[in-house]
Amino acid sequence: MALHGVKIVGVGHYAPARVVTNHDLETWLDTSDEWITTRTGMKRRHWASEEEGTSDLAAAAAGAALVHAGLRSHDIDCLIVATVTPDYYFPATACLVANRLGLPDKPAFDIGIACSGFIYGLTVASGLIRSGVYRRILLIGAETLSKILDKDDRSTAILFGDGAGAVILERSSEDSFLASDLGADGSRPELLYAQGSGSPRPLDHAALDGKVHLIHMQGRETFKLAVTKMVESTDSVLSKASLAKSDVSFLIPHQANKRIIDATARYLNLPEEKVVINIAEYGNTSAASIPMALSESVRTGIVKAGDIVIFVAFGGGLSWGAVAWKWAA
Ligand code: UT7
Repeated sequence: MALHGVKIVGVGHYAPARVVTNHDLETWLDTSDEWITTRTGMKRRHWASEEEGTSDLAAAAAGAALVHAGLRSHDIDCLIVATVTPDYYFPATACLVANRLGLPDKPAFDIGIACSGFIYGLTVASGLIRSGVYRRILLIGAETLSKILDKDDRSTAILFGDGAGAVILERSSEDSFLASDLGADGSRPELLYAQGSGSPRPLDHAALDGKVHLIHMQGRETFKLAVTKMVESTDSVLSKASLAKSDVSFLIPHQANKRIIDATARYLNLPEEKVVINIAEYGNTSAASIPMALSESVRTGIVKAGDIVIFVAFGGGLSWGAVAWKWAA
């Protein structure tokens, strides 16, 4: 039984200025705008500049969320960044962002569970607030996946983009958190990974030549599992929250592939206008995709008080999860 309720009081997002279109990709890859559009739904993605890091994007999104909430940084009790493209191996990107925002001595930590990062983060942050540990938490999903892309691999280079989305969660008398469903399966890391300087094989020149620091994915198999797990997790979170499919106002899914999103929406019998899709503009931004889509939909007045929102994701780990949320005034 929760001691307190939790609600989201501010949202913000940020994408780097540089836009890479499908036609841009055609200039160096054996691909086409037609293939990318029909197979993924993507048209553009934003890639950070050489100097921009994940903490820069995260701080920009967080600043926008603070303004949206009418709060200042010292009102925040704890900061969490979901990312798999941190500025450093350590310290945590959250520590750097906290420093940038002027949050000295406040707890700050990262969650590294790839595309499910925001779902895990929302569950952890809600738990910390509902159990009375903190009053306000700034949760950010931020990635610069372009920095770990093999730009010559057409099967991954077209998919990923950079961005950040932030939410501010606050203790409340009403409770927006209805249920969470999380899962993970580490038996098949080879399906989607970037090994980097992993402990069994620290980076050396041979490893770099083998591109172990870049993203590798078995797309077709990952696709099939994504559809299965996103549907199962949605089903499970609805059941935990005692909700019927018809109660759902909006589905805000991880933006990995429009065909995966369509399959999940079909399962829920949701018409197109109830599914938030911004994949055409940003591509797959991993942990940032859901908070970016949420921020856009709240700021444009699409998601409103009383709406039941289902967030759902699947990604590297393998990992997956869904959260059912009632949007508060
Ligand atoms: O965010 C974490 C979770 N991520 C996902 O869930 C992503 C899951 N996977 C996918 O979204 C899709 O599998 C992809 C978009 C990556 C690929 O689409 P697909 O329909 O599964 O294509 P495929 O991998 O089965 O490849 C079909 C064909 C192949 O050619 P052949 O062997 O049939 O001659 C590929 O070589 O398409 C070819 N291909 C391309 N052609 C043009 C692969 N990439 C490209 C490309 N442009 N960029």
